[in-house]
Amino acid sequence: MTEETQPGIERAGIEKAGFETRAIRAGYEPDPTTGSVIPPIYATTTYKQDGVGGVRGGYEYSRSANPTRTALEGCLASLEQGERGFAFASGLAAEDTLLRAVCRPGDHVVIPDDAYGGTYRLFARVAEPWGLRYSTAPVADVDAVRAAIEPGITKIVWVETPTNPLLKIGDIAALASIAHEAGALLVVDNTFASPYLQQPLVLGADVVVHSTTKYCGGHSDVIGGALVVRDLTLADQLTFHQNAIGAVAGPFDAWLVLRGLKTLGVRMDRHCDNAERIVDLLVGHDAVTEVIYPGLPEHPGHEVATRQMKRYGGIVSFRVTGGEQHALDVCARTEVFTLGESLGGVESLIEHPRLMTHASVEGTELGIAGDLIRLSVGIETAEDLLVDLAHALGG
Ligand SMILES: Cc1ncc(COP(=O)(O)O)c(C=O)c1O
Repeated sequence: MTEETQPGIERAGIEKAGFETRAIRAGYEPDPTTGSVIPPIYATTTYKQDGVGGVRGGYEYSRSANPTRTALEGCLASLEQGERGFAFASGLAAEDTLLRAVCRPGDHVVIPDDAYGGTYRLFARVAEPWGLRYSTAPVADVDAVRAAIEPGITKIVWVETPTNPLLKIGDIAALASIAHEAGALLVVDNTFASPYLQQPLVLGADVVVHSTTKYCGGHSDVIGGALVVRDLTLADQLTFHQNAIGAVAGPFDAWLVLRGLKTLGVRMDRHCDNAERIVDLLVGHDAVTEVIYPGLPEHPGHEVATRQMKRYGGIVSFRVTGGEQHALDVCARTEVFTLGESLGGVESLIEHPRLMTHASVEGTELGIAGDLIRLSVGIETAEDLLVDLAHALGG
């Protein structure tokens, strides 16, 4: 596929619309043949050509481009206010493609000191053996991130905000400026906030990463990932690598994520409403020693979060009085909160990060304390969640 034949993202008029309108309309115009309001699932590998090289709309082979995936990529680009979006088979596939597009052996990256375990594993156990060095730094400490950068050698400053599972907040605008001063890109994993709550590209970031498995998909029924960028040269590099590496989202998966995006705004507001109710329950509860939620005024990142996020999200982490055993007991006792990994779906989940999502960082500098519990607060009836959690805590 040449750049000239690349399926374009016609986004002119819709870009002026509000977030929820774009979530429903961006990336796709009703099918000219049938009027289908929803993009078909183009379950095709190849496309009839009108003579050799006469590809219709740039589609020649579905690894390079597929119309269902194009619709998703256009919608994601619009929601993140970027120029181009790219959809992948998983969040980690998106991350891997980005690394290989931007970095070379001998380069260096800075990653969060409490990055998602799988992201850390990708850097520590896959990329580093190929010659990509990394350092960790606390995203909430701009000076520490600056100190970890090796000017000219660091190619990426990688940030999650809020981080997983400690919900630390990085100041995206400040981090973008120190990354750019050193000639590095600022990459923001926006999975926890979702584009509804935070748009890093507008704050100066160069690349947004998503595990669309989470809030974008929103229904715990699809694994997917995405990249969104502003710069068209970087977009061309990613187009090449997405096709050359081939870790693309299939049309069924792209369709599911696109369907999820249509309700992202209303879901996120409800996730936030319910999370705030849960935080109220946990704060001051006898069995709880600490509640970690960026919406709390005492959270060290509260002020920055208020500046750069619309609301504070659906993830709540907390520590319990009786150490690890107590944390495991609480996880075992809930009934409405399902014990499970992942997050961002309509159903509430509870998990023990040290032994579950973050087991891959055990024994490293990213290790997690055993008394910590993470909740992905869903959109069920708030009272049911409160009763369930109070019962599990023994309240
Ligand atoms: C913040 C964050 N980034 C990236 C990923 C990886 O995404 P995936 O599981 O879709 O590969 C996850 C998965 O949990 C995550 O929580």
